[in-house]
Amino acid sequence: MTHFISALPKVELHLHIEGTLEPELVFALAKRNGITLNYLDESALRAAYQFHDLQSFLDVYYAGMQVLLTEQDFFDLTWAYLVRSHADNVRHVEIFFDPQAHLARGVPMTFVVEGIVRALEQARQQWGLTSRLIMSFLRHLTEESAMETLRLAEPFRSHLSGIGLDSAEKGNPPTKFARVYAQARAQGYRLVAHAGEEGPASYIRDALDILQVERIDHGVAAITDAPLMARLAQARIPLTVCPLSNLKLKVIDQMSELPVRQLLAAGVCVTINSDDPAYFGGYMNANYQALQDGLTLSDAELLQLALNSVEACWLSPPEKARLTQAVYAHGDAYGVVLAP
Ligand code: HPA
Ligand code: ZN
Repeated sequence: MTHFISALPKVELHLHIEGTLEPELVFALAKRNGITLNYLDESALRAAYQFHDLQSFLDVYYAGMQVLLTEQDFFDLTWAYLVRSHADNVRHVEIFFDPQAHLARGVPMTFVVEGIVRALEQARQQWGLTSRLIMSFLRHLTEESAMETLRLAEPFRSHLSGIGLDSAEKGNPPTKFARVYAQARAQGYRLVAHAGEEGPASYIRDALDILQVERIDHGVAAITDAPLMARLAQARIPLTVCPLSNLKLKVIDQMSELPVRQLLAAGVCVTINSDDPAYFGGYMNANYQALQDGLTLSDAELLQLALNSVEACWLSPPEKARLTQAVYAHGDAYGVVLAP
């Protein structure tokens, strides 16, 4: 790990809290909740983390979260993630949770939201680590299920900054959720959606034009569509790219194929994130490092990625200005000069 990366002040914008569930915590929570697992121990479970596409990951991801039952479980899960993020010099996080995956198991929304929020509040008080929470809909489920979830979230509205869309992308286009997003927009939610991970560039266009999202999660398929690239760059629409995720789920065959340098050169607001770090082999520093190793990015390019994340986040303008200053100060300490 280079010191430039570990000491770089970072912002994480694409993180599924259920994707931070490490095998050790799976076993601890299974024991606490009296659940019998199909795996003998932590290393046997970790050995099952071999994926060939998004769906093969999702099957393991939804199975793993069965151990999450109580408010304390959601607190412990979130706290463990925040401890790791703080160690990675992450200053601000915007995290997804998948309420439908818990409601379907009889776990009420209060346990989920209150457990997560209690940990987020503790991190803010203890370290000044700030956060936003994004409720994500499962796109393999129906529009009605998403609508019902939006309704169930009303008592928790003050804790939720935005809504997102995740799970199996192919065959579940953004258009399926046009009315859900229109409702959420009317309720003042900020809007993001996963698009162009396994799905085509047209899903990115539809997320922008039909769902009216302000940020695209993943979005790497944009590289195949020159007019879309120009539009993303011109409007500075952020892409939350996840290097180790794309590698593990075989969106790319090797890291050198990830189009981050091209996106930067085109002026797109590309950002680096960890997605589901317990499953994909690393948190924020590991993602920056894997990218640096695969693409031999310059320190100036890494600095630009960190600045993009601050630009793309939902902090207030003064908070953003303070973080931007911290990133520039880090660059100055290394004599890094940004491209004009
Ligand atoms: N893509 C789609 N669904 C997900 C992901 C992802 O990267 N992570 C958790 N659910
Ligand atoms: Zn994701």
